[in-house]
Amino acid sequence: MKQEEREAIKNYNSSAEAYHNWRTKENPQGWFYNELLEMPSTLSLLGEVRDKKILDFGCGTGIYAKILTRMGAKLKGFDISKEMLDIAKRDNPILDLRLGSGYNIPFKEKFDIVLASLVVHYLKDWNNMFKEVSRVLNKGGYFIFSTGNPVAEARKKIKIGNKKISVLDNYFSEGKIYGPWRSNNGKKIRMHSYHKTYETIIKTIIINNFEIIDYKDCFPIKKAKKLFPKAYAEYSKKPFFCVWKVRKK
Ligand SMILES: C[S@@+](CC[C@H](N)C(=O)[O-])C[C@H]1O[C@@H](n2cnc3c(N)ncnc32)[C@H](O)[C@@H]1O
Repeated sequence: MKQEEREAIKNYNSSAEAYHNWRTKENPQGWFYNELLEMPSTLSLLGEVRDKKILDFGCGTGIYAKILTRMGAKLKGFDISKEMLDIAKRDNPILDLRLGSGYNIPFKEKFDIVLASLVVHYLKDWNNMFKEVSRVLNKGGYFIFSTGNPVAEARKKIKIGNKKISVLDNYFSEGKIYGPWRSNNGKKIRMHSYHKTYETIIKTIIINNFEIIDYKDCFPIKKAKKLFPKAYAEYSKKPFFCVWKVRKK
């Protein structure tokens, strides 16, 4: 097992319940970064899903699984964290959701779409990941993945007077970055991910025999303005997440 897989298991096992609660019970109208920022863009690139065979790569606690199944998709999924997966299974008892990694996808069959929402930045080796995604995709099938916006990932906060502002820094330095997270017992933890430039992402897509069909910079939906005014003010001006829609040739 790779180092980043061990780290993902540790971080997500220790925060699964808290993560699920803050996206559901604590914020019944949705959490800013997911339901109000990332999901609307990803769902729009997914388009019509009725009767489509979808593989939910890094299904987490099964929030997408539930929505897409309700929309008529034939969905299966997997996740590397047992604690996240247990919640997904509890909420979606009839779905085939398995424990496994994107480096070794635990399915042999082929799908029309592989969806990876906010997962791929936990994997360092995208050539290995693309090879696995390609193995489980039909020819002409779509890989739709959302991730950190490469420019936004390269920002750092600096203080000017009393004000904290973010500035672009180290865009070309690829590798591990950390962000704040919260564990089940309320302890602050550092969540890892991997920063890649646009150049690396685009070349990786091309080298692995996929073509870019669409791309979106996530923009918060209107109701976020009232629910999370501070975050809305910031992320309606600056990018944070993006979504790629690529097709296996
Ligand atoms: C931010 S959560 C997103 C969950 C879900 N896709 C969603 O959007 O609701 C990231 C998920 O990726 C999973 N993950 C991280 N590394 C993984 C890997 N190598 N293979 C499969 N899943 C992974 C984590 O366990 C976690 O459940």
